[in-house]
Amino acid sequence: MKGGARLAGDVAVGGAKNSALKLMAVALLAEGRSVVANVPRITDIAIMGEVLRRLGCDVELKGNEAIIDVPAEPGAEADYDLVRRLRASICVLGPLLARRGFVRVALPGGDMIGSRGLDMHVSGLARMGAEISNEHGFVIASAPQGLRGSKIWLDFPSVGATENLLMAAVLARGVTEIDNAAREPEIVDICDMLTAMGARIEGAGTSTLIVEGVDGPLKPVQHTTVGDRIVGGTWAYAAAMTRGDVTVHGVRPEFLDIALDKLVQAGATVEPGDNKFRVRMTERPKSVDIVTLPYPGFATDLLPMALGLAAVAEGSSLITENIFDGRFMFVNEMVRLGADIRTDGHHAVVNGRDRLSGAPVRATDIRAGAGLVIAGLCADGVTEVGEVHHIDRGYPDFVSDLANLGVEVERTDVPEPTFDF
Ligand code: EPU
Repeated sequence: MKGGARLAGDVAVGGAKNSALKLMAVALLAEGRSVVANVPRITDIAIMGEVLRRLGCDVELKGNEAIIDVPAEPGAEADYDLVRRLRASICVLGPLLARRGFVRVALPGGDMIGSRGLDMHVSGLARMGAEISNEHGFVIASAPQGLRGSKIWLDFPSVGATENLLMAAVLARGVTEIDNAAREPEIVDICDMLTAMGARIEGAGTSTLIVEGVDGPLKPVQHTTVGDRIVGGTWAYAAAMTRGDVTVHGVRPEFLDIALDKLVQAGATVEPGDNKFRVRMTERPKSVDIVTLPYPGFATDLLPMALGLAAVAEGSSLITENIFDGRFMFVNEMVRLGADIRTDGHHAVVNGRDRLSGAPVRATDIRAGAGLVIAGLCADGVTEVGEVHHIDRGYPDFVSDLANLGVEVERTDVPEPTFDF
């Protein structure tokens, strides 16, 4: 990829990976055929499809739809070979426990951005009456008499724990209250699908979720996935860093309030619209300090883009990461591009440079990969980003989108063999 491009034009963003994966698990809660529309065409969705197939579902991935036919009695086991490839498959824990009263899901293990525990998933389900053990690399949970509604306080508004507990609570006996719940738009999306299926949930998008368990079976539905705010935010930062002019379609700008406001502070003009927004920048960005926090705070998944912005901004920025302990692991790759970044624990001090310098670098996770590509746009000469299969996991059409926005970019790798779409 050649640096020095100025991104200009329109880019369409599809459904959020982190919503679509969970919506597919939500389908498990009702016998029959549910359709999740606007799913991104990425390997993770195909792996989730395979997880559901092994649970006895018929899954067809057609275009941007996942069509899931759930049997009366789905299986209750998710194996390590799939869970290790898709950490998000842990989200079948809640719905399977609710439907089957027993579940055995492999422990996903750590990954490149941090240790990522499951303690809040486990203690929440235990409060609802489940017996849980950890044996031979599996979480084993059982609730032969069914789950019962209870009050659960999360130590931290974990996205995954909130989702698992929600999916378990909709079929529990009585009322479950989840306090300090995650408030992400993806959680609201899941609540919307559950509600359409017949679940009773109040407080979606707030810190307190009240779920009244329903007695009868839930019904299958058709649901459209919310737009991917992280992909949208990635284009917004790329536009500002390259002094470009990009209109992003398919993402509600209010889901990116803080991230877009930081760009305005850096000197960009942001025009919000209906499920779209335009970002224009005519000058070198000014430095801004950024702190990641659970939604509605600045998203940790945009941290690499924040570091990229800081790396080319005028002045020094302090960037703080509060969600994942390993998020800064890719900083050495950014430094290879000439960025002046020093980290200390969960803080990074970045002294902006006018230009970065093209070099071969390596993607270590989805967001780091996208962040490196965008930093490469502001580098002299050619930047070669290796291990782009990480980027494929979150950005379905990254290379063609970049090319359409005016970047000289070429993909030279052969993608990992994956499941067919
Ligand atoms: N945590 C615990 N114990 C728990 C649950 C979480 O200690 O029981 C800790 C984690 O170790 C982490 C923090 O809490 O340090 C946040 O974890 P959370 O549960 O909120 O995140 P997640 O559900 O594992 C999802 C997204 C991530 C995104 C985070 C935060 C999916 C599949 N993943 O992860 O997305 O960064 O929420 O918004 O939904 C990505 O898409 O690249 C990605 C990593």
